Amino acid sequence: MTAAERPTPEGGPGAAAPEAPLYVDLDAAIRETPVAEALAQLEDDLIGLRPVKERVREIAGLLLLGKVRERAGLQTERPTLHMSFTGRPGTGKTTVAMRMARILHLLGYVRKGHLVVATRDDLVGQYVGHTAPKTKEVVKRAMGGVLFIDEAYYLYRPENERDYGQEAIEMLLQVMENHREDLVVILAGYGDRMDTFFRSNPGFHSRIAHHLEFPDYSADELMTIAEGMVAQQQYRFDDGSRAAFREYIARRMRQPHFANARSMRNAIDRIKLRQASRLLASAGRVAVDELRRIDAADVRASRVFREA
Ligand SMILES: Nc1ncnc2c1ncn2[C@@H]1O[C@H](COP(=O)(O)OP(=O)(O)OP(=O)(O)O)[C@@H](O)[C@H]1O
Ligand SMILES: [Mg+2]
Repeated sequence: MTAAERPTPEGGPGAAAPEAPLYVDLDAAIRETPVAEALAQLEDDLIGLRPVKERVREIAGLLLLGKVRERAGLQTERPTLHMSFTGRPGTGKTTVAMRMARILHLLGYVRKGHLVVATRDDLVGQYVGHTAPKTKEVVKRAMGGVLFIDEAYYLYRPENERDYGQEAIEMLLQVMENHREDLVVILAGYGDRMDTFFRSNPGFHSRIAHHLEFPDYSADELMTIAEGMVAQQQYRFDDGSRAAFREYIARRMRQPHFANARSMRNAIDRIKLRQASRLLASAGRVAVDELRRIDAADVRASRVFREA
């Protein structure tokens, strides 16, 4: 910043007015932070998630403007940044939380930008006096970054009269209020359960500024995600296995415990297992490309094809 651009500090009467900058260069502000790159990576690396990506962009924009306003000498209160990520399993919540932590760090809103994932078991003790030190330890580890509480509704167990979850909840509420400068909390879980949880714990709801909903992936998106995972592990589908995997997705989506992108990762792990057994059973010399190629049989041996 040159002397001319520097905002005039609050001075005596009339001191600030003549030198206050009239323009700020937003292009430069965007260029100066590596956040544009992080947003582009989010766009490229993650398939689908259109509404989530838009919200992340919006939040990043608001925060960037906050920094620009600060530099222009305008009053800027640090915004509340606690968030909720709702969606079914495997819709990318943890993955996006990691990206979010990085973006918050690049914009200068958290010191370190790491992500600490915690569930009820990490926060709540089994005996009197165990909960406070457990919660404290997790919060301490997360300071300067993002604390991601997965399936946050398990903290609250109204059916248990003496449930230590309530103790953890109260500590978290305090931390969210008093350490807003140094810690961002993201509460994650299924949408309908989170709604119930927020209704029973309005203190959480009122402390959360951004609610992000993660939609289920379409069959095409799941195929693209699977292709990406396969390529990244240096395997490849051929025409037969690609068609078989499309069919696999259609069937798997209708079955219980379907977990979106996570189910794709698990399916690919099992396919790799079958491919390995097939190759070892045939033994002898194999072309290197055969070590990469997934055969339709590797896909069709799944029990998904046996169940009606
Ligand atoms: N949009 C996406 N594009 C590519 N890969 C994805 C996408 N979303 C998720 N994945 C991959 O799917 C897996 C599951 O994602 P993640 O753990 O982020 O989901 P989650 O919503 O946190 O799931 P859970 O509720 O089971 O914890 C990860 O391996 C992740 O890399
Ligand atoms: Mg997760």
